[in-house]
Amino acid sequence: MSLLVGIDVGTSGLEAIVVDAERAQVVLSASRDYPLATPRPGWAEQEPEDFALAALSALREIANGLGSRVKHVRAIGLTGQMHSAVLLDEDHNVVRPAILWCDTRTTAECEAITAQLGEEGLGRAVGNRALEGFTLPKLLWLRTYEPGTMARARALLMPKDYVGFRLTGELGADVSDASGTLVFDPGARAWSETITKAFDINPAILPPVGDSPSLLGRLSPDAAEATGLPVGIAVVRGAADNAAGAVGLGVVRAGRAMASVGTSGVVLLHTDDYRVEPRMRLHSFCHAVPGHYYLMGVMLSAGGALRWYRDVLCDGERMAAELQGVDPYSVITDSASTARIGAGGVVFLPYLMGERTPHNDAMARGALIGATARTTKADISRAVLEGITFGLADSLALMREAAGAEIDEIRLTGGGAKSPFWRKLMADVFDAPVSLTTSTEGPAFGAAILAGAGAGVFGSVEEGADALVHVTQTIAPDPANASRYREVHAVYRDLYRDLHQRFRALAALE
Ligand code: XUL
Repeated sequence: MSLLVGIDVGTSGLEAIVVDAERAQVVLSASRDYPLATPRPGWAEQEPEDFALAALSALREIANGLGSRVKHVRAIGLTGQMHSAVLLDEDHNVVRPAILWCDTRTTAECEAITAQLGEEGLGRAVGNRALEGFTLPKLLWLRTYEPGTMARARALLMPKDYVGFRLTGELGADVSDASGTLVFDPGARAWSETITKAFDINPAILPPVGDSPSLLGRLSPDAAEATGLPVGIAVVRGAADNAAGAVGLGVVRAGRAMASVGTSGVVLLHTDDYRVEPRMRLHSFCHAVPGHYYLMGVMLSAGGALRWYRDVLCDGERMAAELQGVDPYSVITDSASTARIGAGGVVFLPYLMGERTPHNDAMARGALIGATARTTKADISRAVLEGITFGLADSLALMREAAGAEIDEIRLTGGGAKSPFWRKLMADVFDAPVSLTTSTEGPAFGAAILAGAGAGVFGSVEEGADALVHVTQTIAPDPANASRYREVHAVYRDLYRDLHQRFRALAALE
């Protein structure tokens, strides 16, 4: 028996799972929540100590649950939220709370980075735009506003790497998480000297980087005692949550993509080689599959827009759902399914939180437009689902058109994958087959696969994914529907172009 542990250091909490590699099954899981502090509007911080305590106590629960089977644990793999900066001093103590990926305090620093290197220079150095969420702008912010913090910093880690440090005593990172710092050149798979020189970042604070399934270290005697797991188990570096999520869905070969509809929406495509979309509207990062890459688009409000619609505009649907004992989302999607493609001329723009891909526009706003006296609630529900799906399809279009990538199959995950109607809508709008898989655990499952590849349970990440992930259903697009949706999608795109200046005026009125 080979048991593999995957740990996901998320934003709302930590999840640890145990996978039985031979039976391809999750046998145990444990989770812990931790708080998120917003000391000022737009700021988001967490205590790295909370990540470590959550990991140790979740692993303790797992070891207790496994009992005598604990001896079969072969390796632990790590994954977690991207971009969030954990800084350690020379004694390896945490210097300040981690500034998170969803913190937006660094607009001025992003502008300064782009002004100094130019978009092209940034593209050549690190293949990505400077975005508020990424790590380099956070370091520059700290240097200006908390010079003492940066002066004391001797190591920069991502949240999962800090958990890895507490488990093994080793400082390290993996290529996929390093890619999200804007200090790392994904093409060269190394820290970027252009960036460290241009922004005077001390290269000594950047930890050694390795491929995702490579060994970070071994479970230390202290961590073994705290958790009840055997001392010396392999701890594998693992990967950024999106990369590990993709591995957990079997998105480990060219042409395979993942569409994840949670609060935000993520579209990720495995590519064999390093590609940068010419205007860098997609993220270009190293994949968890050694030597490979991925392109990613992030929608800030996908499932979040549907939740807003349910909560603010769907009192009737919520009451009906309560009476029928069903989920309000199923009442909304059932009703949407009775409307026609194009929702009778109603279009929804889902930019309730501004938008990252493809517009990179914090001032973008939501819109419901095109209603007539004949518009029904079913039309509006359909427009909301279509609009969110067009938002995801915009990332796929950039991958196909601008980055020249082929997309053969899109594997779905997250709440959005649950509705049969929405799945069919996605296949038609994406004009590509969409699939469901046996995998339900997200990034932690991918981290367990990486653990298995690192510990030699599988010959490679691909072999691990092939062994543990199976497609259960594939929905083919209907060419006639796809062509109708193309027309509606064109109007959706034009509407953002027509309205985006007006969104600025509206934002000023808020
Ligand atoms: C990706 C991103 C988020 C975080 C969430 O660029 O910012 O998806 O990884 O944990």
